[in-house]
Amino acid sequence: MTRSLAVVFACCAALAMPVMFLVSCSDDDGDEHAGGHDDDHGDGGDDHDKQDVGPPSGAKCPTNSTLTYGNFGEAFCKDYCLRCHSENVKGAQRMNAPPDHNFDTLAEIDLLSRHIDQMAAAGDSHVNETMPLSIPKPSLDERKKLGEWIACGLKE
Ligand code: HEC
Repeated sequence: MTRSLAVVFACCAALAMPVMFLVSCSDDDGDEHAGGHDDDHGDGGDDHDKQDVGPPSGAKCPTNSTLTYGNFGEAFCKDYCLRCHSENVKGAQRMNAPPDHNFDTLAEIDLLSRHIDQMAAAGDSHVNETMPLSIPKPSLDERKKLGEWIACGLKE
């Protein structure tokens, strides 16, 4: 019973495959002419479609937070991110880090802070560990601090 169903399904899937391929091909064509390509890193990147980023950490800003760029953020980025995400790192050494994702200054970090949280910070909802791609990696405590620093508005 289940077995024959499976056979029927496999059979249909095999038949449907080339048809789907043809349909998606002509679809693509139409899309391109309609100019329907994602405007990835357009302005501010607020909703770009490259869904590699994780969920927001959900980190909160405690009223007594003391984290600043000076006593935390700068060193965190230097230790864990700048070896790929720096203006001064070129070519193969970037390990494919996007050319417009550099964290050399507070202003640049600020601009991309939402994604930084989603890639590397820990909070009440999630521990995001996608970045950095290689060791050395921050401890859980450091990831929590990153989340807190961002949630508190990246104090200088
Ligand atoms: C070993 C190299 C390397 C290190 C170190 C590294 N990254 Fe990345 N990063 C990449 C690469 C490659 C990509 C692009 C691929 C991707 O998006 O998954 C990327 C992409 C990103 C993005 C863009 C995601 C998007 O789609 O908008 C963010 C944000 C990011 N990294 C944050 C960080 C942070 C924060 C750190 C430090 C904690 C860090 N990265 C450390 C290599 C690195």
